Amino acid sequence: MTAPDLELHGVALAYGGQPVLAGVNLRVEAGQVLGVLGRSGSGKSTLLHVLAGLLEPDTGEVCLSGRATTTRERRGQSGFVPQRPSLLPWRTVLGNLTLALELRGERGPGARRRALDLLAQFNLAEAANLWPYQLSGGMGQRVAVLRAALFARDLLLLDEPFSALDALTRLEFQRWLAGLHAEWRPTVVLVTHDVREALALCDRVVVLGGKPARVVLERGNLPTLRSPGADPRPLEGELLTALLGQERP
Ligand SMILES: Nc1ncnc2c1ncn2[C@@H]1O[C@H](COP(=O)(O)OP(=O)(O)OP(=O)(O)O)[C@@H](O)[C@H]1O
Ligand SMILES: [Mg+2]
Repeated sequence: MTAPDLELHGVALAYGGQPVLAGVNLRVEAGQVLGVLGRSGSGKSTLLHVLAGLLEPDTGEVCLSGRATTTRERRGQSGFVPQRPSLLPWRTVLGNLTLALELRGERGPGARRRALDLLAQFNLAEAANLWPYQLSGGMGQRVAVLRAALFARDLLLLDEPFSALDALTRLEFQRWLAGLHAEWRPTVVLVTHDVREALALCDRVVVLGGKPARVVLERGNLPTLRSPGADPRPLEGELLTALLGQERP
């Protein structure tokens, strides 16, 4: 698969009769980064689970590269990093990475080589033989992203990957992620509640709001705001207003 474009039409979902998503429409071009903003409990993780094929929406369509997909089809097509990713404590970093390849039926020295190459490429070579408990928070997040990318690197679904990190580590990890994106050009859906983070990393953003949630604001062309002399503050203000203007879900 090459990086797909992604389109949602009227995706709605309720948990046990309690509606959470109400007809979400959105679109992200192939190889671009979409930021999904929303207050806590607005349904961001739920939306990502739908994209990852882990939850079946009640209604609506999720199209990849212009084709409507079933939940089951989507399950193998993305590298998903959940909000609290867990590396398997009984496997080293290398073992956690080769796991993603094993799930794809790749084993043996070839798989090991690929995982080691990837660790070297993204500055984690020295972590290969460490156990998860020996990693810093930032390293753990990087390994979780690489593991997801080894499983399926053309579509990455990242649920608040920065939230547990301190400010400096967060910045480093953001740069690292931007580097990975520049290298591979995957389509990325990045859930965050940080407006600045979204402005720094995304091509377009949507704000989820309302109860049940829908897209209340959508803005594209974010890279133009990162060019010299551009002023991101008006959009920052607009996004914050959209976020804070929402009733607490
Ligand atoms: N498995 C579940 N069963 C029932 N309700 C759920 C389930 N998962 C989430 N919810 C509810 O659905 C709503 C949306 O939850 P979700 O986790 O998608 O929000 P979120 O935007 O990711 O929040 P946060 O920013 O805190 O991670 C919340 O009211 C939550 O309590
Ligand atoms: Mg969440």
